[in-house]
Amino acid sequence: MKFFVLLIIAYLLGSIPSGVWVGKLFFKKDLRQFGSGNTGTTNTFRVLGKKAGITVLLMDILKGTLATSLPLLFSLDVNPLVFGVAAVLGHTFPVFANFKGGKAVATSAGMILAYNPAFFVYSALIFIITLYITSMVSLTSMISAVLITLSTIILPFAIPGILPQFDWLLTLIAIALTIFIFIRHKENIQRIKDGTESRVPFGLGSKK
Ligand code: G3P
Repeated sequence: MKFFVLLIIAYLLGSIPSGVWVGKLFFKKDLRQFGSGNTGTTNTFRVLGKKAGITVLLMDILKGTLATSLPLLFSLDVNPLVFGVAAVLGHTFPVFANFKGGKAVATSAGMILAYNPAFFVYSALIFIITLYITSMVSLTSMISAVLITLSTIILPFAIPGILPQFDWLLTLIAIALTIFIFIRHKENIQRIKDGTESRVPFGLGSKK
């Protein structure tokens, strides 16, 4: 019973449409009608600016972190990743926003933060370096997902200080989320192919 209640709470936490709410509340704008139409951090930065972007990034990460911490907070002996995944599904298919949500990236990061902070820092570095090279958040999200998944296999042998042992559930979830992230970026992939994907104004790939 406790398991199912916490699973629903995790999904509901993930469902909080941070971008939509911040946009409507403080800017009287519905993010879904501007920029890429996505409700995540990147489009918030693009449409509503830095402050709103950072707020949505933190909120979306926090949703995943809180959801993943539920078994610890409520003394339930179930792998926390299960609740992280529920939050990611909530973030992508939010009950509070007609089931049209983000692309699973920030909330997945929040899940990693709660599960293994050292691996979060490692993953964040991969993301930052890749973003610097590509200057495209969408491409960075997909490349990072692949690299982070590979890292769940390699790190336990290469740098056990970050991932002490091979964690099959983490790898399995990382593979599933990577496929999911690629599917959610279908339109971005098309724009990358067409050469029309938007870029951040910094890094090697920026068009300054
Ligand atoms: O996490 C979403 C990001 O990878 C792409 O967002 O708004 O450019 O489609 P957007």
